[in-house]
Amino acid sequence: MKTIAIKEFGAANVLTEMPLPEMTTNDNEILVGVHAFSINPMDIAGRMGQLGSPFTDEWTFPIVLGYDFAGVVQAVGANVTQYQVGDRVFGQAPTTRPGNNGAYSEAVVVTADLIAPMPAGLTFDQAAALPIAGLTAYCAIAKNLNVQPGEKVLIQGGSGGVGLFAVQIAKALGAYVATTASPSHHELLKSLNIDEVIDYHKVSPADVLHDYDAVFDTVGDIDTGLKVLKADGKLVTVAAQPTPEQQHHLQQDVMFQFTNGTPADLTTLANYVLNGQIKLSMKTMAFTAADVIQAHEEIQGRHVTGKIVIHVKD
Ligand SMILES: NC(=O)c1ccc[n+]([C@@H]2O[C@H](COP(=O)([O-])OP(=O)(O)OC[C@H]3O[C@@H](n4cnc5c(N)ncnc54)[C@H](OP(=O)(O)O)[C@@H]3O)[C@@H](O)[C@H]2O)c1
Repeated sequence: MKTIAIKEFGAANVLTEMPLPEMTTNDNEILVGVHAFSINPMDIAGRMGQLGSPFTDEWTFPIVLGYDFAGVVQAVGANVTQYQVGDRVFGQAPTTRPGNNGAYSEAVVVTADLIAPMPAGLTFDQAAALPIAGLTAYCAIAKNLNVQPGEKVLIQGGSGGVGLFAVQIAKALGAYVATTASPSHHELLKSLNIDEVIDYHKVSPADVLHDYDAVFDTVGDIDTGLKVLKADGKLVTVAAQPTPEQQHHLQQDVMFQFTNGTPADLTTLANYVLNGQIKLSMKTMAFTAADVIQAHEEIQGRHVTGKIVIHVKD
């Protein structure tokens, strides 16, 4: 089985093509042939040896990185009733798993709680772009911030993997949405009808936005978010750990979100794409070590547009 794996932690060029033995399943597991996977910042942290427990508790080299995938069920364990061979599915590789069971591979072993059926009309590449970034945005905007029609929401980092999902979900829920992005991303965000797009290189959102109901921080700038938020507003961050002072600022509700999406949430995301409320921005690259290295370097540079997807097979 072809994989892109690492034998040591380090820079992007530790990623190499490596054949590994075929995967097997136990009675509760599902073997999925991977047709596409996507890359997230947590893969970069994993490659550099910075991910930590519980993610790395079961890791031994060689490590196959990657969580997000879409593919076709190849085998099911005796206790699995929801899926059968040939089903098209998408989701996440388990976060606590042996090091060789990542998504940068021709196959991955999962349990049913981590995947959802791929609806007709979605390509493997599109489905692979959804899980971590989409679930993170959906859980923050729809669940933890519980954004309501007419509310004012600031999403810091609206052009990134998480941010582009977040701004569109907030618009779909009827919110007034402001976001921060570099100028090269303003046209895209305006084409998505985002109400205010701020060049954070020149203007702090804290100087122009006030009394916002909710803030979603995807860049690790909680203090700016708190200045924009009204006295009893709510801030969710996925990019920095709030300090005790930040958590007890006015009556503001400040939380770090560790994303736990469900199969139903994956289906909701897919439906957002199918009904046009989420337009995917993604770059598709080849299943080669050179392309995966390049993708890691681009994501590490922190200015990608949306998602980078690796196409494994049609
Ligand atoms: N806790 C969780 O469950 C969870 C889950 C998923 C992700 N995360 C974390 O969430 C963060 C975002 O993930 P992602 O996949 O969206 O990353 P990404 O795709 O790399 O997004 C980076 C974006 O951040 C923007 N940016 C960079 N520096 C900025 C700054 N100083 N101020 C404002 N915006 C800035 C860039 O926009 P411009 O190019 O327009 O400047 C870029 O589009 C990462 O730290 C990731 O580890 C956490």
